[in-house]
Amino acid sequence: MARLWCSFFLFTLLFQLNNFCISMVEQVPSPPLPILPLPTYSQLKWQQREIIMFLHFGVNTFSDSEWGTGDENPSIFNPIGLNTTQWANVAAESGISLMILTAKHHDGFCLWPSKYTKHSVISSKWQNGKGDVVKEFVNAATDKGIDVGIYLSPWDRHDSRYGHDLLYNEYYLAQLQELLKKYQDVREIWFDGAKDPRAQNVTYYFSDWFSMVKELQSSINIFSDAGPDVRWVGDETGTAGDTCWSTINRTSLSIGASNITQYLNTGDPKGTDWLPAECDVSIRPGWFWHKSESPKKLSDLLDIYYKSVGRNCVLLLNVPPNTTGLISENDAHRLKEFRSAIDTIFHKNIAENRYVKVSSQRGGKEGGFGPENMLDSDHLWSYWTPREDDKEKDHWIEIWGNDGSLRFNVIRIQEAIGLGQRIERYEIYVDGKSIIQGTTIGYKRLHRLDGDVVHARVVRIRFIKARGVPLISSIGLHFDPFWHSRFTAA
Ligand SMILES: *[C@@H]1O[C@H](CO)[C@@H](O)[C@H](O)[C@H]1NC(C)=O
Ligand SMILES: *[C@@H]1O[C@H](CO)[C@@H](O)[C@H](O)[C@H]1NC(C)=O
Ligand SMILES: *[C@@H]1O[C@H](CO)[C@@H](O)[C@H](O)[C@H]1NC(C)=O
Ligand SMILES: *[C@@H]1O[C@H](CO)[C@@H](O)[C@H](O)[C@H]1NC(C)=O
Ligand SMILES: *[C@@H]1O[C@H](CO)[C@@H](O)[C@H](O)[C@H]1NC(C)=O
Repeated sequence: MARLWCSFFLFTLLFQLNNFCISMVEQVPSPPLPILPLPTYSQLKWQQREIIMFLHFGVNTFSDSEWGTGDENPSIFNPIGLNTTQWANVAAESGISLMILTAKHHDGFCLWPSKYTKHSVISSKWQNGKGDVVKEFVNAATDKGIDVGIYLSPWDRHDSRYGHDLLYNEYYLAQLQELLKKYQDVREIWFDGAKDPRAQNVTYYFSDWFSMVKELQSSINIFSDAGPDVRWVGDETGTAGDTCWSTINRTSLSIGASNITQYLNTGDPKGTDWLPAECDVSIRPGWFWHKSESPKKLSDLLDIYYKSVGRNCVLLLNVPPNTTGLISENDAHRLKEFRSAIDTIFHKNIAENRYVKVSSQRGGKEGGFGPENMLDSDHLWSYWTPREDDKEKDHWIEIWGNDGSLRFNVIRIQEAIGLGQRIERYEIYVDGKSIIQGTTIGYKRLHRLDGDVVHARVVRIRFIKARGVPLISSIGLHFDPFWHSRFTAA
């Protein structure tokens, strides 16, 4: 009997010990569940690029026009000093990791020797018809470690097949295959819905085209009014909505529709598709290079940055090569100034090494979801999140300086979008005074303050409404000297 008791006792002890060990292991809390929809791997990679480059180049460059008629004589295309290495260098020096080239614009002239038309570099004077701009572009970019993208205009004002739906769609698809089979690792392809105003009955077989693109390229993002991977922002000024969701309903979108621009601009908190917005704008007034035009001022580019990248989008900035075949010195210079200004503003985070207090944190002090995660360099997978059972109460973050020692004019907040976009409403207070009522955050939200520099003791960010518990991957307080100078100028 005693033996039986003893073994029972031992068994119980082991069982308890086992439970104890499990509960020890269980003390490391798991990340919270995602809130769908989520980005794909390629969409996440795209989002982190922040600024990408468009290059509009073709016969329009030589005819000094924006929209060619399709009647241009191909012999006018003669960029005698073409040097795509210079393009790639300009991009690399400006921190740009993806360049998109207009392989064909509305005029129908092809920058590569397509076997399906003579209206291309084959019929130009350039390199006696033996040249290939797309090839040189891809090679130079790849050498610099820059990714490439392609624009192949659906509207073709030259080709006689345009207007015969079957023949033209076959032609378009043939060219798409030519480009996407030859070059692996094309990271973005750009589609617009522009059509001849006199031939609005023309149909583009987008489903066939998109299926073919996905078949030929594994990590490509397809851009169009309706995605499927990246959506247009709804304007060509580089401006996203003050509220901007990466989520939207694709079923409410159709390419070229005029009723969707507002919806594209803001997205949809109830959207069932992850389809983030890209803001396209040119560094100059026009998309093609014109001798008479010059680049935008640095302050205008910074405005665009705050309203695109600072509103959860990627900025697609067009920098057009000139008739020599080079990016003009003043454009290259402005672009480098732009990059250097962004670095100047954001290299120093005034919130760093400050006391950051939060409403609560998942799993307690040792849980791995503390406020320190908002100040490290991982802006995706390392984040602060409050206790989930804290639902009734406000979630908030406070950054403490000493008396008035937080001096800044820009506030940066980033969500851990890998687990879904969540925040719908928040408010920012400086020393108890409300200064910003915000809506969406997303990958990156920048608030450049309306007035001059703030000197604060404490900055409080209060999350009022969200689709789930907030997951904040990064916060920053920054000083923008370019903005500050507007208030100090005589
Ligand atoms: C092309 O441009 C690069 C970078 O600006 C320069 O180093 C190179 O010498 C140029 N190549 C030619 C053939 O001019
Ligand atoms: C579009 O309409 C024009 C004029 O009515 C006609 O000639 C043409 O064949 C039509 N094209 C298509 C693709 O239906
Ligand atoms: C635009 O109009 C189309 C056709 O009427 C409709 O199906 C779609 O839902 C509308 N989209 C938006 C965002 O209003
Ligand atoms: C988007 O889809 C969701 C889910 O079906 C729906 O609740 C929401 O109302 C839709 N948004 C719009 C603008 O129709
Ligand atoms: C194109 O840009 C290059 C580099 O700045 C410059 O040397 C060349 O003169 C420019 N060509 C024209 C036609 O302006």
